[in-house]
Amino acid sequence: MRRAIYPGSFDPVTDGHLDVIERARKLFDEVIVAVAHNDEKQPFFSLEERLDLLRETAGKIDSVRIAQFKGLLVDFARAEKAGAVIRGLRAVSDFEFEFQMALMNRKLDAAVETIFLMPKEEYTYLSSRIVKEIASLGGDVSSFVPACVAKALNRKFTR
Ligand code: PNS
Repeated sequence: MRRAIYPGSFDPVTDGHLDVIERARKLFDEVIVAVAHNDEKQPFFSLEERLDLLRETAGKIDSVRIAQFKGLLVDFARAEKAGAVIRGLRAVSDFEFEFQMALMNRKLDAAVETIFLMPKEEYTYLSSRIVKEIASLGGDVSSFVPACVAKALNRKFTR
């Protein structure tokens, strides 16, 4: 069983994330989409909200499991018997942080390989942060995120 973990904040999940998950699914028997508990980041959506939005979207894809983890990613990967970590690479600006993280994870556990996947070109400029900014200013985000996410953003911003 070839299993990979796709970790992230997913605050919230976007069409770019879903594109990466679909690509990863072609390479692995099972993909675990794992939301990290990160005490340093102050997320916009709560952990439960982010998990629910993932369950409603990525969770519907065959052989995709939604999970959460605390602590080190490599420890979670080991516990789940996953040999690979998937990360999306959009632009050169992503590279420095991703490179540092991949090499540090390799140092922590050489058995876990990081695999970078590039989303469709039209998603290269997409990020959760920019989607939240557009939604907060009343813009239409329906072509960047699944319908349930657009609805959740609208609900938050029109409160
Ligand atoms: O979507 P993000 O915020 O870019 O995801 C970053 C994430 C969650 C993948 C990263 O912060 C992470 O792996 N956190 C878990 C803690 C850990 O293992 N830190 C050491 C990484 S080198």
